Amino acid sequence: MSAYYLTTPIYYANDLPHIGHAYTTIAADAIARFHRLQGDDVFLLTGTDEHGVNIERIAANAGASATQHVNRVADAFRELWAALDISYDRFIRTTETDHYRAVLAFWDRLQASGDLYRGTYTGAYCARCEAYYQPDELRHGACPVHGLACDEVSEENWFFALSRYQGTLEHLVADTDFVQPLSRRNEVLGILRQGLRDFSVSRRQVKWGIPVPDRPDEVIYVWVDALANYLTGIGFPDQAETFGRYWPAQLHLVGKEIIRFHCIYWPALLLSADLPLPKTVYAHGWLTKDGQKISKTTGNTIDTSALVREFGADAVRHYLLRAIPFGQDGDFTREAFIARYNAELANDFGNLVHRATSLASRYASADAALRVSAGAALRSPADGVLRDSADAARARLADAFARFALHEAVGAVSDFVRDINRYLEQTQPWHLSDLEARGAVVAEVVAATTQAARLYEPFIPRAASEAQRRLQCAEVGDPLFPRYSC
Ligand code: MSP
Repeated sequence: MSAYYLTTPIYYANDLPHIGHAYTTIAADAIARFHRLQGDDVFLLTGTDEHGVNIERIAANAGASATQHVNRVADAFRELWAALDISYDRFIRTTETDHYRAVLAFWDRLQASGDLYRGTYTGAYCARCEAYYQPDELRHGACPVHGLACDEVSEENWFFALSRYQGTLEHLVADTDFVQPLSRRNEVLGILRQGLRDFSVSRRQVKWGIPVPDRPDEVIYVWVDALANYLTGIGFPDQAETFGRYWPAQLHLVGKEIIRFHCIYWPALLLSADLPLPKTVYAHGWLTKDGQKISKTTGNTIDTSALVREFGADAVRHYLLRAIPFGQDGDFTREAFIARYNAELANDFGNLVHRATSLASRYASADAALRVSAGAALRSPADGVLRDSADAARARLADAFARFALHEAVGAVSDFVRDINRYLEQTQPWHLSDLEARGAVVAEVVAATTQAARLYEPFIPRAASEAQRRLQCAEVGDPLFPRYSC
């Protein structure tokens, strides 16, 4: 059993979760579930990033202590992940004591490598990104990501010698699969070609963070603190056995706006700390509304919990994974959401399960051929149509997951579902008078539909397992996906 450790970014505990956060987490969950089905020893880590000047300020503005504020937000994230059936193995919070220990052990390693030195930082700092910006990186004098005014910071603190890793990082990014997809790799190479500058890794004017050893008036820069969560989550530094099993991570899934931190800072910090590098950082695109990134700052968020209450977790998961080519930006509209839901979930899959279970319950006692377990491997029909189709779906699914083409992976299953529906229409078992022939067709459809439901598990886990249960005991039940009108 091979280990497969994957992570989402840890989300800022500044405000409640929105559909953009759900997007990354659902994608990570689908990948985790797929690898579990393959028999891998999967560990999925997600959580909240709870330190930093932004959170300190937001809590103060809300008249709450930072601790009260982050507790409330972390609960909201956990509730949403439960509603969306996210199968994480740990929800990490950077205010937990084992994370403090891990960050300090990591810091010691950076110090031991000789890569930390005292320097003075003078310049812009965006509290929302928790990032330092050079004058040429600002857009109209403001943060290039949020368009917000930056703080002018001038303080002596610890610096990390990032520039020492220029050559190693160029090789890593240009010659390996470390950064995916290709468009992001080119973007990271572009950043690298501008030349790397050392960056500060502690802050004096911030109180809400992990204190720097021997410097109680400074806290560790929130991105160093946050990135180290990937180590804490699997037991660094105390649980050597678990850490040894899962590190290095196979995959860090992130949004495209944080590639600099994950594709440049993080590998350099790991190299400095003498720890192995993760295999891949995959940066996906943004969920947009009317072409604009969905974010709290823009104020165009979509209430994910309300969407789940109205349509169910599977519907939300399916839309996000299927409708947006993974890696690119994609717009969210209610009309497209309902259209996709009706076509692929209510009509194609929901109806198929309904037809297959109806046939099974109607003919099960009469047809000997049906007395095989529907969950058993696909029996081969005379013409092999559905077996070929099932084999093709499985192969396409595995290939799509290997390339992180999640939309293609869902598409492979929905094509298989369409093939089964077509087979039913062609064979029309309800019109067959030959009992043996009818039994063979129905058994075939039940087995193939069971296969399709199993392949759908990473994407629509709730309906997929309910469909398998109903097929197993020939129970018709209410529609899995009732139709909606716009
Ligand atoms: N706390 C940092 C990450 C630290 S990881 C060591 C952070 N947090 S965040 O709350 O801003 O969440 C960022 C992540 O949320 C993005 O990288 C992305 O994965 C996801 N998204 C937030 N808005 C999004 C969209 N509109 N669309 C898609 N994903 C989005 O950055």
